[in-house]
Amino acid sequence: MNNLIVANWKMNPTSQKEAKNIFDAIKKGAKSDKVEVVICPPFIYLPLLSGLTLGAQNCFWQESGTYTGEISPSMLKDLGVKYVIIGHSERRKYFGETDEQVNKKLKAVLAAGLNPILCIGENAEQREKGETEMILKNQLIIGMGGIEVGDNFTVAYERIWAISGGDPYKTKELPTPEKVEKTHSYIRGILEGMYGKKVADSIRIIYGGSANAGNAKDYLENAKVQGFLVGGASLRPDDFNQIVKSAE
Ligand code: PGA
Repeated sequence: MNNLIVANWKMNPTSQKEAKNIFDAIKKGAKSDKVEVVICPPFIYLPLLSGLTLGAQNCFWQESGTYTGEISPSMLKDLGVKYVIIGHSERRKYFGETDEQVNKKLKAVLAAGLNPILCIGENAEQREKGETEMILKNQLIIGMGGIEVGDNFTVAYERIWAISGGDPYKTKELPTPEKVEKTHSYIRGILEGMYGKKVADSIRIIYGGSANAGNAKDYLENAKVQGFLVGGASLRPDDFNQIVKSAE
C-alpha cells in the first residue's frame, strides 16, 4: 500500500491566484509514483485546479435538496474529486459535528464512490484526563457503525493538541514517534475487532498534527504511519514536497 499524503488547506488561501500558485508549485515538486498525493482546497477552488488528485474538506450527507450552504458527495464526484475529509476536529469543534453525523457523512461519501478520510483524535483536556483511548474507540465505533470498508478507507489520527492551530509557520509540541505508534496500534486493534484482521489491515492509518518537512521521516520510519494529513505545511510547497519525498 502506498503512503498517502493529504494537504488540508483549511480556509486558505484567500485568493484564486494564490491557490493556483500554491497548487502549481506542489504539482511541480510532488509528483510521485510511490506516494498518493491529495490536495484538499476550499470547495470554491476545486474547479480551478487540475493535475493532482483532489479531495474536499467536508460534505453533507444528502444528495440534493433544501440544505442551504451545503455541498453533496455527488456534486464533488461530478467535479472529479476523489477523497473527502470527514469529521475533522475543527468541524467537530466549530460546527458541533457529532459522531452520528460523521457516520451519515461517511455512508454518503462511500455511496457516491468517493474515498473517505475519517479524522479522529483527542483534545488536550481529554488527554489530560486519560480519556484518549475511550474517545478514539467511540469515534471509530459510532462513526463507522454499519459501514463496510476496504482499501478505499483512511483513518487520520490527529492529536488535536498537536495541530499547529492555523499558523502555517508554527509547530506545536509533538508526540514522540513511539507514542504515535502505540496509539496507531490501538486504533488498528479496534478496527480489527470491528472488521477482522484482513479488512483492518487494508485500512490506511495516517497521522496529523504539525507534520512537517523536519519530522515526516521520523514518523514514517519510527511510528510506521502510512502517510500524513498536513495542514499548515501544505501551504508551503517546498515543505510539502519534502514531506512527499520522505514518504517515497
Ligand atoms: P497542522 O494541521 O498540520 O497545521 O497541524 C493538521 C490538520 O488539522 O489537519
